[in-house]
Amino acid sequence: MTHDLFLAAKSAMAKAYAPYSKFPVGAALRTAAGRVFAGANIEVASYPEGWCAETTALGHYIMGGGGEITDIAVIAERMDKITPCGGCRQRLAEFAGPQTRLHLCDANGVAQTVTMAEILPFGFRGDILK
Ligand code: THU
Repeated sequence: MTHDLFLAAKSAMAKAYAPYSKFPVGAALRTAAGRVFAGANIEVASYPEGWCAETTALGHYIMGGGGEITDIAVIAERMDKITPCGGCRQRLAEFAGPQTRLHLCDANGVAQTVTMAEILPFGFRGDILK
């Protein structure tokens, strides 16, 4: 079941626009309803204006109707078991739960699985803002 999510992240990575870092990244989210939303990193000549693969995937997820996120896969061509950056951990935690599985991939498939709680302990919680 996780291999298809790996393949979705890998296909997304092939669409990365990363001419500056030459570091393509792909991410894919699966919901409890079985829907998959994927994305790649997109860079901009004014470097800070680019954004991560996870953020693209979240944009597709929101615009596609959202839902409970059960699994996330991330892959980078030049780094085995890439972990989402700090900002993306916080963005993912906005929509995923602490028990959501995060699959860290290499070129062949899922190499390690952790939970959101493990990669973002003590993340900022916005409950009080609601
Ligand atoms: N990048 C991601 O897409 N996700 C991450 O979690 C880490 C970094 C991208 C951003 C930039 O386009 C490139 O990798 C190099 O930092």
